[in-house]
Amino acid sequence: MALWIAVGLAGAVIVVIGLLLRTRKQLARQARRIAEQETRLESQSGELTNQAAELERATTELRHANADLGVALADAQQARVRAEGAAQQKTRLAALLDASLASAPVGFGFFDRELRFLRVNAMLAEINGMPPEDHIGLSLGDIDPKLAQVVEPFLRRVLATRLPIANVEVAADAPRKPGELHHWLSSFYPIAPQGEVVGVGVAITDLTERKLLEAQLVQAQKMEAVGRLAGGIAHDFNNLLTVISNYTELMLQNAETPARNELQEIRHAAARAATLTRQLLVFSRKSAIEPRVVNPNDVVRGMQDMLRRVFLEDTEIVTSLDPETALVRVDPGQIDQVLMNLAINAADAMPQGGRLTIETDTVVVTDDLARRERGLEPGRYVTIAISDTGHGMTSQTLEHIFEPFFTTKEAGRGTGLGLSIVYGIVKQSGGHITVFSQPDVGTTFRIYLPVAEDLVARETAATGSN
Ligand SMILES: Nc1ncnc2c1ncn2[C@@H]1O[C@H](COP(=O)(O)OP(=O)(O)OP(=O)(O)O)[C@@H](O)[C@H]1O
Ligand SMILES: [Mg+2]
Repeated sequence: MALWIAVGLAGAVIVVIGLLLRTRKQLARQARRIAEQETRLESQSGELTNQAAELERATTELRHANADLGVALADAQQARVRAEGAAQQKTRLAALLDASLASAPVGFGFFDRELRFLRVNAMLAEINGMPPEDHIGLSLGDIDPKLAQVVEPFLRRVLATRLPIANVEVAADAPRKPGELHHWLSSFYPIAPQGEVVGVGVAITDLTERKLLEAQLVQAQKMEAVGRLAGGIAHDFNNLLTVISNYTELMLQNAETPARNELQEIRHAAARAATLTRQLLVFSRKSAIEPRVVNPNDVVRGMQDMLRRVFLEDTEIVTSLDPETALVRVDPGQIDQVLMNLAINAADAMPQGGRLTIETDTVVVTDDLARRERGLEPGRYVTIAISDTGHGMTSQTLEHIFEPFFTTKEAGRGTGLGLSIVYGIVKQSGGHITVFSQPDVGTTFRIYLPVAEDLVARETAATGSN
């Protein structure tokens, strides 16, 4: 029994041992698996740590990048604001340039290389007599071929030499106004924004008025000098003439004097010379002037008898006097002299007779007329016009008629002083003279005398302002 128990115990022990062994094996396997898992977990944890570090680096980088981006964005925004400002500034400058071109008192024009207008300013457009936009694409020849002949050589020279031509004086008829001579101070220059010449610019100033004033000044100085000279000798000469006349009269009073006819010729010549001296004295302004307020019609009427004697029998004399004429303030003796000179010239221009017309009128000179007629101020005037149907004058003669000693008459027939005296008197009276003449048709001289009332008002205003 005990054996059985022992055997049984032994068997049980064996089973237990067997069980224990299996369990140990199983445990060892599990331990191995756990160890393996541990290793795996360890390596995974290493990887995770790496990844975490990486992530952190990436985050930092991103944060930096974000900061950079912020700076870049701010920069970009600033740059955009600056660019917008610059663009606005550029637009403003362009508008300013446009405005200054438009109001410049100088004509500006820009041509391309084919010498076609790219642009002109208002002044040049006005000179050319057409709107600025109508110029674009046209050549100067399309506007005025004659002017183009004068101007285009300058433009071509600028294109060829790439050098500017400054301040040349170009004399030519105004564009599309043949016969209206103008003087232009002109400059031509290459336009080369990127170094290459793409066109030519011109800048012109009208010098016509200044030229005329200069010519008038020269004329006035000449008159002044001649006047002084003439005045200087006229007085002495007049005294000599008085002696000649007096002795001639004395001899003529003696009935027995031989050579009566010759003496009469001397008297006649002395009288003529005295008239001439009087002219010279007026010319040199040495004779006293006595202005009075007069009716211009009375002056004309007072001249009629004398006029009759100047003209040939077959000259018709017509007077047309404004019944409502205003009064003028002049020296009547001077106006006689003006009318006499104009009448004698008319008679000389009508050797075969003709018609002489004298008209008076009261007119208002508007600003517009004053602008066109140089030397005539706006205001109210009485005009006295003397017209003849004589041989008239060419434009060349017309240019010189008021110059002292200009005459087309043969020696002994004219001294050329008549019209310069007329001019002097009319100007001295605050007036003006115009002339219209056509060869073989006739001539009209029109003198403008300021209305007395206005003249007084003008003088009072002038003294009042001093
Ligand atoms: N009515 C006219 N018709 C044609 N030509 C004229 C007329 N009036 C003036 N002229 C021209 O103007 C010139 C100058 O005239 P102005 O009276 O000054 O001198 P003049 O008549 O020649 O000489 P002066 O008057 O001294 O005797 C004249 O020589 C003439 O050629
Ligand atoms: Mg004369």
